[in-house]
Amino acid sequence: MNAPVSPKWILTFIGAGNMAEALVRGIIHAELLPPARIRVTDSDRRRLDHFRATFDVEGFESNVNGVRGAQVVVMAVKPQVMADALQEISAGLTPKTLVISIAAGVITSRLERKLPAGTRIVRVMPNMPAMARAGVSAYCLGSRATEDDATLVESLFQSVGVVVRLDETYLDAVTALSGSGPAYVFFLAELMMQAADEMGLDHQTARTLTLGTIRGAVRLLEQTGQEPAELRRRVTSKGGTTAAAMDVLGTGRVKEIFVKAIRAAQKRSQELSEGMV
Ligand SMILES: NC(=O)c1ccc[n+]([C@@H]2O[C@H](COP(=O)([O-])OP(=O)(O)OC[C@H]3O[C@@H](n4cnc5c(N)ncnc54)[C@H](OP(=O)(O)O)[C@@H]3O)[C@@H](O)[C@H]2O)c1
Repeated sequence: MNAPVSPKWILTFIGAGNMAEALVRGIIHAELLPPARIRVTDSDRRRLDHFRATFDVEGFESNVNGVRGAQVVVMAVKPQVMADALQEISAGLTPKTLVISIAAGVITSRLERKLPAGTRIVRVMPNMPAMARAGVSAYCLGSRATEDDATLVESLFQSVGVVVRLDETYLDAVTALSGSGPAYVFFLAELMMQAADEMGLDHQTARTLTLGTIRGAVRLLEQTGQEPAELRRRVTSKGGTTAAAMDVLGTGRVKEIFVKAIRAAQKRSQELSEGMV
């Protein structure tokens, strides 16, 4: 395969929700496919109207009709309705169709069991900042997916951010780290803004300073390539203001609690995976 995505292909999203919207926006922006080659299906007609009006893509109420003739199908429904949706699309797939699932916790062997024998599957775990084309996605190949499929998935998901390939055993860790991760950062922003409010700053100023600080800290991590702990030490002068704050965070055992929280998300992801599809 020369180019990973042929402009003649049809790409169908099953489920026209938030994640499908982020991906459609990214794919069109990156000019990987023209809108006329992108389809979405949804049980909610208003979502189809929204996609037609916003992106000029084709909308289908029927899942099976939506996948007929498609080279690539992205399953973007909630995990709870995945089994039904897979059953609905099966009759419209050809032996050449690649199926990509972005549903949290639905493992590739279960997806393979629900689809016609021989179907190639790739599982991807994106995250919410994909909506701002600043997401991170981790993917793993199903048992029949090829290196060409990997290249294709990378180019599709790079249109909404950074992509890493991993063994499927790590996807619960990914779900806990980057899938749920935006919530940890939003929580940090929330706490910084609460403190700003208590110190008398107005909401808008607090927001500007908090967001600018988080953005700047991330940029510094990227530009210097240094470890977070090293940069933290560099802003923490002995006896200074940051040291006073770090002393309180240390005694509150925040480090331990934070790691424990992320491990709890990983455990929950494992539990959910066991009950899926
Ligand atoms: N959002 C995230 O941050 C995130 C991150 C990583 C992975 N994911 C995964 O991405 C998937 C989609 O998440 P989302 O946030 O985009 O969900 P969403 O906004 O709820 O989108 C799902 C859409 O699918 C529709 N739908 C339900 N049953 C259907 C069916 N049988 N056939 C076709 N469409 C159907 C839903 O309609 P109704 O609302 O009418 O049911 C809804 O419009 C999930 O599996 C989730 O685990 C999401």
